[in-house]
Amino acid sequence: MSHHPAPSGTNDLAPVTVPDFLAAPGKKRLLSVVSLYDYPMARLFDEAGADCLLVGDSLGMVVRGEPDSLAVTLDEMIYHAKAVVRGAKRALVVVDMPFMSYQISPAQAVENAGRILKETGAHAVKLEGGMRMAPMIEAIVNADIPVMGHVGLTPQSVRRLGGFRVQRNAAKLLEDARSVEAAGAFSIVLECVPTPQAEEVSRILEIPTIGIGAGPHCDGQVLVAHDLLGLTPGKKPRFVRQFANLSEPASSAASSFVQAVREGTYPAASESYQ
Ligand code: KIV
Repeated sequence: MSHHPAPSGTNDLAPVTVPDFLAAPGKKRLLSVVSLYDYPMARLFDEAGADCLLVGDSLGMVVRGEPDSLAVTLDEMIYHAKAVVRGAKRALVVVDMPFMSYQISPAQAVENAGRILKETGAHAVKLEGGMRMAPMIEAIVNADIPVMGHVGLTPQSVRRLGGFRVQRNAAKLLEDARSVEAAGAFSIVLECVPTPQAEEVSRILEIPTIGIGAGPHCDGQVLVAHDLLGLTPGKKPRFVRQFANLSEPASSAASSFVQAVREGTYPAASESYQ
């Protein structure tokens, strides 16, 4: 029996690496990516076989109820990324660089991407933006830190965009995606773009495209864990499929707890120490 570990990517239990991602486009197996923020969710999706756990800065909206992701800080991302890394045995862990942690200069981008890798044990960072962010991506990649790009709807640009809307400028999408690839990113998120545009970008780029609201032709798909589990209150965007509606049993359990405490039926003798 060999004492060498199996090369990664050769079986379903081996940890997913950046080279495994790069090998994905054109292959039959599509990449599953989940955005989440804590240890129990990380365990759940890692054990389900997700290829990549993304610690998204959607944290601000999903967990804290804020209107956008702009207030999320680097220290907060690092705090949540540590919890996700502890829960991930197999999946690649990618951490979002929050607003204003990389836009100022390539040097700022490298320093903060370095903090993320050193302090959390994650495998890669993600940052938003196309052509204008290429110098930052290149600098981070030159420091041997893998970068996932993110173009189309970039939520950190919400003030400039005036809202979270489908992005329909096909020429800009392709130019941005090409710049991100040329700068050295190992994969790229396409968010809220028309299906034919995402299909074209996916055909042209060599790195894998990960879609969210970008139709079925990408090399992978990403959703927020709370959205796909049906735990997010309010109106859901068109691209969200609720694979479960956990808010119903959760809400009923919450009411049962309150009622049991009020009635004095919790805790029972079997739930108490004698
Ligand atoms: O912040 C996030 O969760 C994301 C994904 C939805 C792509 O950027």
